[in-house]
Formats: sequence, C-alpha cells, structure tokens
Amino acid sequence: MMFFCRFKSNNFTVVRIGNIDLGIKPVILAPMEDVTDSAFRLICKEFGADLMYTEFISSEGLIRDAFKSTRKLDFEEKERPLGIQIFGHQLDSMISAARVSASYNPNLIDINYGCPVKKVVSKGAGAAFLQDIPRMMAMTKAVIDAVDLPVTVKTRIGWDEKSVNIVEVALRMQDVGAKAIAIHGRTRSQQYTGEANWDAIGMVKQHPDMEIPVFGNGDITTAERAVEMFDKYGVDGIMIGRGAMGNPWIFSQIKALLQGQTYSLPNIKERIEIAKKHFENSEKIKGTDLTVREMRKHYGNYFKGIPYFKPYKIRLLTAPEKTLVYEILDEIGENLSTEILDGL
Ligand SMILES: Cc1cc2nc3c(=O)[nH]c(=O)nc-3n(C[C@H](O)[C@H](O)[C@H](O)COP(=O)(O)O)c2cc1C
Repeated sequence: MMFFCRFKSNNFTVVRIGNIDLGIKPVILAPMEDVTDSAFRLICKEFGADLMYTEFISSEGLIRDAFKSTRKLDFEEKERPLGIQIFGHQLDSMISAARVSASYNPNLIDINYGCPVKKVVSKGAGAAFLQDIPRMMAMTKAVIDAVDLPVTVKTRIGWDEKSVNIVEVALRMQDVGAKAIAIHGRTRSQQYTGEANWDAIGMVKQHPDMEIPVFGNGDITTAERAVEMFDKYGVDGIMIGRGAMGNPWIFSQIKALLQGQTYSLPNIKERIEIAKKHFENSEKIKGTDLTVREMRKHYGNYFKGIPYFKPYKIRLLTAPEKTLVYEILDEIGENLSTEILDGL
C-alpha cells in the first residue's frame, strides 16, 4: 500500500536505455525460448510492443556457430528496438558471444541472469549468478566492455526466499554500467510457482540511488493489472511474457487503458486472422513443414477460453499440412459464433 498514490501518471517521463527512446510507460515483450522468435515478435510489434528481445541464446552455441543458436540472431528492421539476449557461464565465451551478437546490429545486448532451468543453472549460468554477486558483476562488466551497444540485464529477485538480494544486485548492476534491469518477481527456487513478488520489484524502483530504468515482470495477464502495477510501484516499464502468448492484443489494450480509453476483446475472426499471420511470418523464415509443427504450441493460446474449441484443438495439433490447418481455422471461424465471444 505504501507505494500507492506516490506515482501519478504525470510523474512518468520518457524512458531511455542509452540513446534508445522507449516513450512513456513502455510495455515490453519478455524473452521466451521457443516463443518469441521473429515471427511472433512481428505480431507483437504490430500491437505496440515498445521493446522486444530474442529468445535466449547460448554463448557456447554461438561461438561454436551452432545453427540452433545463430538462427535466433536474425530479426527484421521493423522489430526495433530489439535486444539480443545471451546466456552462459564462461567469461570468454560471453565476451565472444556478445561481440558476435553486436555484429548483427541489435539495439542492445541483454544478459540472462534469470533462467532457473537445471541444465543452465548447474553449469553456473542464468539464475546461478544470483548466488555469486561478484562473479555476476565481473561478467556484466566484461560484456559491457566488449561491445559498443547498451547492455541490459534480466534477473530474478534472488536465489531463494532466504536470499532475496535484488536491491543490492540492481544497485551494483547500475554501478558497473548496465543500462536497464528487468526483474522477474520470483526467486530461482520458485521457478514459475507461487506469485511474482512485486513489492520486491517496487523496492528496487523506490531506492533513492536507482537511476537506470527498472522493468517489472511477472504475472501480468491483463491490461488492468499492468496499469495497476505502473501506478502502484512506479516501475519504468512492464514486461510481459506468458500474458502475450496467443494474446498480442494485450499491448494495445494496455496502451488504450493508459490513455484513459476502453478496449474491446478480439473476436474469433481476429484471432484466426492473427494466428494465420503468425503462421505466415514463421513460414517465410522457417519454411512450411517446421512452421506446421512449431505453430501447434500456439493454437491453444490463441483460442484460450473459447467454448467448444477443444475438438478443433485436437485436430490442429495433429494436422500434418498447412492446407488442413487453414481449413480447420476457417471451420472454427464458421462454427464458433462471434457472439459467444462477447464478454469473454
Ligand atoms: C516458455 C518460456 C520461455 C522463457 N524463456 C526465457 C528466455 O529465453 N529468457 C528469459 O530471460 N526468460 C525467459 N522466460 C521467462 C520470461 O521472460 C518471464 O520472465 C517469466 O515468464 C515471467 O513473466 P510472465 O509471468 O509475464 O510470463 C521464459 C518463460 C517461459 C514461460
């Protein structure tokens, strides 16, 4: 409660990362492995995402020139401002990966200090850095020194509930030269369980010495919640992950609400249109066969909460060809009436 009322909308100013202008109260697409590829980012951009990142890219993979890693570096000009996110545990690999990434000319390089996955953490990468702050700072400084682009970081509030150290981490990040910090309000131990602790994010933003932009992240699934978090905690930007999956409209909804306007929910025809656009964006980059397979993870999100969708979902998940996928999508448009959606 203590943060309420302290941050009236008119106190917010233009947010900058280095010389990148993100406007007032930017809404940011969180990096998500296997989700935020260029195809999906282009959709989110259309709905107003102010800053986006690649999926996280392994530094070791990049320096080995592994296809899985290098293909994540590609983006289109209209995606800007765009950050390339890298992760790794070895200083030399991260320096090389940052340089390779910088050669693709993104707007910034972001370091992942938040990934909780065992495979990553057990090697000392991602959220593992939260257990060794001097190592985290040395890594950040080395990456900053290696490239001419702004370097930002994304992390969690601490390793576990007994060691929530995000205020110290954020201040030290600022001291070593990070240009912004995105904070997922969970500990590594929580993984994705429980609720994001926005009070901890608020404590960083409220710290009198904190000057670089602080982006709050975690559990923002509606425009109302985003506006509430801006007002309550005064964060510089809101970063949205799962809430944007199959729901890129959330960016325009937040913007409408921030401007005191109302918004309408997408009807079924719009959902189908965007799902097809997403398909086609992906097809141009990855080809039809891979797109048919990869798009399967998105349909459930595009049609989440739609009554009677389940039988179509089952068919979409097994349809082997684009023509069949499109036939099923068209059937959804014909059979699931738009009236059902009103009020969803
Ligand atoms: C499928 C998935 C993949 C993710 N991949 C990444 C990633 O590559 N890099 C990263 O920093 N965070 C990653 N995250 C974490 C998100 O960026 C975000 O911090 C987290 O989901 C909390 O935000 P949300 O509640 O808005 O989803 C991932 C999350 C999900 C669900």
